[in-house]
Amino acid sequence: MTTNSTQSAKKILLNAFDMNSVGHINHGLWTHPRDESHRFNELSYWTDLAQTLETGLFDGLFIADITGVYDVYQNNIDLTLKESIQLPSHDPSTMVSAMAAVTQHLGFGITVNLSYESPYQFARRFASLDHLTHGRIGWNIVTGYLDSAERLIGHKGLKDHDLRYEQAEEFLELCYKFWEGSWENDAIQKDKTNRIFSDPKKVHQIQHQGKFYQSQGVFQVAPSIQRTPVLYQAGASPRGLAFATQHAEAMFIGADHPAKIKLQVEKIRKLAQEQGRDPHAIKLFVGISVVTAETDQLAQEKLAEYSRYASPEAGLAHFSSSIGLDLAQFGDDEAIPYKQTNSIASVNNKFKDQKITRNDLKAQHLLGGRYPLFIGSGASVAEQLIDFLDETGIDGFNLTRTVTPESHQDFIRLVIPELQQRGRYKTAYDSGSLRHKLFQQGNLLPAQHPVQQFRC
Ligand SMILES: Cc1cc2nc3c(=O)[nH]c(=O)nc-3n(C[C@H](O)[C@H](O)[C@H](O)COP(=O)(O)O)c2cc1C
Repeated sequence: MTTNSTQSAKKILLNAFDMNSVGHINHGLWTHPRDESHRFNELSYWTDLAQTLETGLFDGLFIADITGVYDVYQNNIDLTLKESIQLPSHDPSTMVSAMAAVTQHLGFGITVNLSYESPYQFARRFASLDHLTHGRIGWNIVTGYLDSAERLIGHKGLKDHDLRYEQAEEFLELCYKFWEGSWENDAIQKDKTNRIFSDPKKVHQIQHQGKFYQSQGVFQVAPSIQRTPVLYQAGASPRGLAFATQHAEAMFIGADHPAKIKLQVEKIRKLAQEQGRDPHAIKLFVGISVVTAETDQLAQEKLAEYSRYASPEAGLAHFSSSIGLDLAQFGDDEAIPYKQTNSIASVNNKFKDQKITRNDLKAQHLLGGRYPLFIGSGASVAEQLIDFLDETGIDGFNLTRTVTPESHQDFIRLVIPELQQRGRYKTAYDSGSLRHKLFQQGNLLPAQHPVQQFRC
């Protein structure tokens, strides 16, 4: 039920959730005759998508990424290759400038695994992108969970889960120094008469001697509009949550029952407050899939039609790598035992708490992905999303694609106007950077954020 009370007046934030690959979340749908995801290596595929999303006033395009391949299921990559389960996949930042050139407002959340980056090169690339996009860049901070990545990079094996976060803390600290501690705001003068492009007194060397990284010198990029890109994170383990609630401005909460998500939301807001931050300084997103059509009946028919092309088994192969356990080794009705692994702790923990079989997982992967599925007419989906948001206390959704590009076009044509009519979605973009659009408090991170201690 939808009401117009003040409490329910929160506007829904919306990101499209995608990846520079064929299969992302909803596996197998690449075989649908109208699906165009095989065109992911063409620039026009992405510029068209960016323009489409901007007509739907999406806040951002969130681009997932992995280093490595999914080789846990059946202990090989055969199904991964056949179904194109995030393989091939290309670098997520390469198409962003082109998408920014054909849009004005859409934000870009780019996933980069810091374990395989040098902080300096990474900070330079993202600061450059923030310049070119006029402050529309976000970074999804991930530390990796695939052994296959370690082999590709030439490392000895995945670092322990909590040690990865310790390294992430230091990586971020060094990035803060580069982005916020080297150049003063008015260092660039562009004074042709006195031949002063940058004022030497206002550009400072940074010093860093840490456990994982050392750096000394001047950052090569002058301040961009946001300086630090908007920080996204998805930590859910105790160590991951401590990291995210200290640094992140947006967090993804894994798909689960609304009651569990509500508890997670309360936990995150409390932890943020304990770290001296405004509990609402973190926008919380849940990943979803939507199938919508002109009527509820037509939406059900569309779902049935889509599901004929989906591959629940490919979904299980993806899942196997997320938890670091080969799900092919169990019978369809056998309870999957919990086994501690070094992968995504929060996803794996489900097997501790519940009896889950392969058949349960396959039913959940009706469209090839494990995200909650909302089905119905535009009005029905809008009401379901509003109820979900109000019940859980989250701020918005990461919308996966199903048959692309038609699923986003359907959502924009049918669901967005219904959300707008209920006063729950913007009718125009605000001006300003991605951070300003999200928080209405300017382009820079607020003074309560840990970045403050690294500012010059
Ligand atoms: C919605 C969502 C999206 C994620 N996207 C990525 C991704 O694109 N690349 C990646 O390496 N990890 C991704 N992760 C994994 C997280 O970065 C993180 O490793 C995971 O949530 C486990 O956190 P934990 O170790 O604190 O439990 C994602 C997690 C969630 C919940």
